[in-house]
Amino acid sequence: MPPAAHAIRLQTDDVQRRLTTRSLGRSLHLFDEIASTNDAALTLASVKAADGTAVLAERQTAGKGRLGRRWDSPPHLNIYCSVILNTFQFSRNPSWMPLVTGLALSEAIQESCAVRLALKWPNDLLCRGKKIGGVLCESSSQGHENLTCVVGFGINVNGRGKDFPDELRSIATSLHQETQKFFDRNILVADVFNRLENWYDAVESGQFERIRKSYTEACATLGRDVQVSCMDGTTIQGTALDVGRDGALLISTERRNRPFATQGRPSIVEIRAADVQHLR
Ligand code: BTN
Repeated sequence: MPPAAHAIRLQTDDVQRRLTTRSLGRSLHLFDEIASTNDAALTLASVKAADGTAVLAERQTAGKGRLGRRWDSPPHLNIYCSVILNTFQFSRNPSWMPLVTGLALSEAIQESCAVRLALKWPNDLLCRGKKIGGVLCESSSQGHENLTCVVGFGINVNGRGKDFPDELRSIATSLHQETQKFFDRNILVADVFNRLENWYDAVESGQFERIRKSYTEACATLGRDVQVSCMDGTTIQGTALDVGRDGALLISTERRNRPFATQGRPSIVEIRAADVQHLR
C-alpha cells in the first residue's frame, strides 16, 4: 500500500519528474532543516546560482515573514520554498513579483486541492478570511545591472489546528483543515513551479495587461474598504479600486457619504509596499 499523503517526505526527484519547466526547479536544493530558505537562496544567488534555482526545506528554524515577522515552520507538514530569479524585467517591475507568485500559488492550490482561495494584495493567500500562505520577495544587487531576486513562499498544507501556535490558531488555516484531506507536497510544489515559470515568463516578456487582468480577477482586495499601514508608519483608509500597470494598489480615500480622513493626501493614492487590512 502506498504511504498516506501526509507521511510522504519531500524528495527532489519526486518534484523534478513532474516538472515541465525550462529552468525553474531544475536545480533544486532540499534541506531537512534550515534557518530560512530565503536566506539560503540569497547565499546561493551571491555565488551566481543559475536562474530558477530553488530551495526547499522540511523545517525552518528562523522562517521569515513580511515586515520582520516570523513565519511558523514546523517540520514535515508544509511547503517552505524560495526561488532565484536573475531577470531583467523583475528589477524594473519589482511590485509584480509577489503578485504573480500569489497568482501561481492560488491557481495551483485551487486546481490541485479544490479549495477556494482569495488573494489579498500584495502577498497573502486567504481561505475563508484566514491565512493559508504568503510570499516574501527579497533582492540582492550583484553589482551589475540585473538584480537577483529571491521569491520565497510558504503554504500551510497538512497541519491540524494543534500544529499552529495559540496566537495563529484563529487567523491561520491549512489545506488539511479546509478539506479534511492530506496532500502530497511534491505534487503541489511541482505544480507551483510549472505555473510560476509561465507567469515569470509573462512578466519577462512584458505581458502586463494580461497579468493585470488575471490578477485583478483573483484579487479579493479590490472593491473593499481597506486600512493600509504604510512603511513610514502612517495609515490610510480608503476603498481599493484597482491595480495599476506596475502592480501598485490604487486606493480612493474619498467616499460619497462618509469621507475617510485623507491627512492631506490626494484622493487616489498609489500603494507599492504596505500592509493591507480588509475592513469589510
Ligand atoms: C508573509 O506572508 O509574511 C510571507 C511569508 C513567507 C514565508 C516563506 S516560507 C519560505 C521562505 N523562507 C522564509 O524565510 N520565508 C519565506
